[in-house]
Amino acid sequence: MTVVVETTQIFKDNLFKGKVLFCSGGGSGICRSMTEAMVNHGAKAVIFSRSKDKLEKAAREMCLKTGGEVFAIAGDVRNPADIERAIKVTIEKYGQLDFLINGAAGNFLSSFNDLSYNAFRTVIEIDLLGTFNLTKAAVEHLKKSKGAIINVSATLHYTGTPFQQHAGAAKAAIDALTKHWAVELGPHGVRVNGIAPGPIASTVGMEKLGPAFDTKGVPLQRMGEVQDIAQSTVFLFSEGASYITGVVLVVDGKHLIKIKHTHTPIHISY
Ligand code: COA
Repeated sequence: MTVVVETTQIFKDNLFKGKVLFCSGGGSGICRSMTEAMVNHGAKAVIFSRSKDKLEKAAREMCLKTGGEVFAIAGDVRNPADIERAIKVTIEKYGQLDFLINGAAGNFLSSFNDLSYNAFRTVIEIDLLGTFNLTKAAVEHLKKSKGAIINVSATLHYTGTPFQQHAGAAKAAIDALTKHWAVELGPHGVRVNGIAPGPIASTVGMEKLGPAFDTKGVPLQRMGEVQDIAQSTVFLFSEGASYITGVVLVVDGKHLIKIKHTHTPIHISY
């Protein structure tokens, strides 16, 4: 699914002029909106994910829409060789790397019973190892530019959402990396924060994971929009957040998940 964000310019247009962003998963969904917002504010962007055709189409569309520069590199975050090549190409092309978004993720609903060994490992590898691999390959360039990282996680593990143990475990560990890296990279001038999106409308994740979503469970009485995540991204990468690191910004309208254990299967009401 293509999520096209209508970016309201809350921040200065040229906030990120001369800066370079690398975003895994930037060709679709929430990460596409994050990328587009950064390009709308003057950054050049590299988007990275597995499907070359989809990625190149997304890059073309974003360039047309923003008048900015978006470059697509296909590869798998699970494969360190792909990642190292992508970072090398980015540096050859733009000479620097200022911002990194770890957004690539895979997910599906599965009960503990149905979740195979390989299924659990696959999600951990894409989400968690992918985040580690990309940051490992990019970190020296981020130190050089005194840049910043945003790790995209989720709110699944706060309550223990049913059928989501694989993604929840990966995202909990990603939140941990955010804090570890903030401590270790802070002295090098690199800030590391997370964004944990709650229920965001019109995304693949939400369509698959919450078809019967009821906004009554959200104190702010609406689903989130990709725009909400995009604006949070611009803020966290901006100078306005220059003393903020190691924080996971929860963008969920204070969504409260209710789980009713009656008989099997578990009833989830959102
Ligand atoms: N329910 C249970 N298990 C599933 C599953 C589902 N819906 N989808 C995949 N799996 C299992 C597979 O059966 C396989 O396990 P097995 O070998 O024991 O059978 C394992 O996960 C790996 O699946 P595979 O499709 O071979 O891996 P992949 O690396 O090609 O893709 C995903 C993994 C997660 C990316 C894939 O499920 C997918 O394309 N998901 C949709 C896109 C997506 O997740 N977008 C993000 C939304 S938040």
